[in-house]
Amino acid sequence: MIKLGVNVDHVATIRQARMTYEPDPVLAAGLADLGGADIITVHLREDQRHIQVRDIELLHKTVFSKLNLEMATSEDIISIALKIKPEQITLVPEKREEITTEGGLSVTTQTGYLSAVVKKFVEEGIHVSLFIDPVKDQIVASKEVGAQSVELHTGKYANVRGDKKRDALLEELVEGSRYAQSLGLGVNAGHGMTYKNVGPVVERLEIEELHIGHSIVARALFVGLKEAVWEMKEIIHKHYLVKKLSEQKRSG
Ligand code: PXP
Repeated sequence: MIKLGVNVDHVATIRQARMTYEPDPVLAAGLADLGGADIITVHLREDQRHIQVRDIELLHKTVFSKLNLEMATSEDIISIALKIKPEQITLVPEKREEITTEGGLSVTTQTGYLSAVVKKFVEEGIHVSLFIDPVKDQIVASKEVGAQSVELHTGKYANVRGDKKRDALLEELVEGSRYAQSLGLGVNAGHGMTYKNVGPVVERLEIEELHIGHSIVARALFVGLKEAVWEMKEIIHKHYLVKKLSEQKRSG
């Protein structure tokens, strides 16, 4: 089964809008857990615009499934992460002015630096994933720098208009997931996934984890977080069964 990582950054975004104590992303993580989240994902941005160091410290103590920390490769954030030691980190590119992570990490242009960063985390027993576009060169470079997994950026697929273009971007993701898997990398996916567009990603890609934030937190405003997570789990489950049944049919 594909694991669901629920990103609770947006809960912290609401808290930080008033610089107060509520709503608490740590409480949100507990509710997401009740809804069936397999992983809790948070992004500690360099400007700490939503998630704070205090959140990561508490989440590390209270999340018993798995804590996945998305982070840039700046020295400050690296030293915080090495101190807290989440189960998994996902290295992402970060631009201060962006609203959310825009593109995948360019691994090919910084293999030396990334090899050293990945090594530090792997030596501490922390699983390292790299958030990349589904491009062969980036996948090969991810393997070369010692990452154990890649998270394929689904944002372009999620946001494009037009069936033809969407199908082409889905094919890129399918190819990328198969290629990464063939190199022995763990394969995850995320960004821009919603209740409506996640189906084909589950049915076609070879992935272990899906990391979803905005759509789940948006729905939670109306149905509650536990319910919103549960609904996403049901959709993923349904499409995963379709995938497995069609694989069985094909193999006779
Ligand atoms: N994966 C990564 C690496 C991300 O940076 C984000 C956004 O923080 C997500 C997944 C979740 O994206 P969304 O909020 O669009 O579901």
